[in-house]
Amino acid sequence: MSINYEELVQLALFSRQRAYAPYSNFKVGAYLLDANDECYYGCNIENASYSATICAERGAFMQAVSVGTRKFKAICIVGGTNEITDFCYPCGVCLQFMSEFCDKDFEIVLFNGKEIRVHTLGELLPYVFDKEQLK
Ligand code: THU
Repeated sequence: MSINYEELVQLALFSRQRAYAPYSNFKVGAYLLDANDECYYGCNIENASYSATICAERGAFMQAVSVGTRKFKAICIVGGTNEITDFCYPCGVCLQFMSEFCDKDFEIVLFNGKEIRVHTLGELLPYVFDKEQLK
C-alpha cells in the first residue's frame, strides 16, 4: 500500500499537540509507520535537567519497539515554536537511533506548513556506524 503523506502530516501535527517543551518552546510531533501500517505517536518531552530531554522521533520508536515492532516504512516529523514555517530535520542522535531498525530506504517525511518533503534515511545519514561494524 502506498503511503499517504498528507495523512502522515496531519497525524504528526496531532502528535505535536502533546509536546512538553516548556524550556525551548520548540514543539515537535512525530508519527511513525511500521511495515504493517501500524502507527505510533511521538512528541518531544523536555526535562528541567535539559540533558534528559527526549526527541519526538525517539519517543515514537521507543513506543513501537516496546510493543514488538522492529520494521518500519516512514516517519513524519513536524516542529517549530509557533506555527510550522520550516522543515524540522531530525537531529543526529535520532538519525543514529533510526538506523538501528531502519534500512537506507526508510522515508523521512517533513512539512514546512506548505510543502511536504520526503527524504530517505540514506540521504540524511549516508555513512553510519551500525551493527555491521561490531562483527
Ligand atoms: N527536537 C526533537 O524533538 N526532534 C528533533 O529532531 C529536533 C529537536 C526537540 C528537542 C528539544 O525538546 C527541542 O526540540 C529543541 O531542541
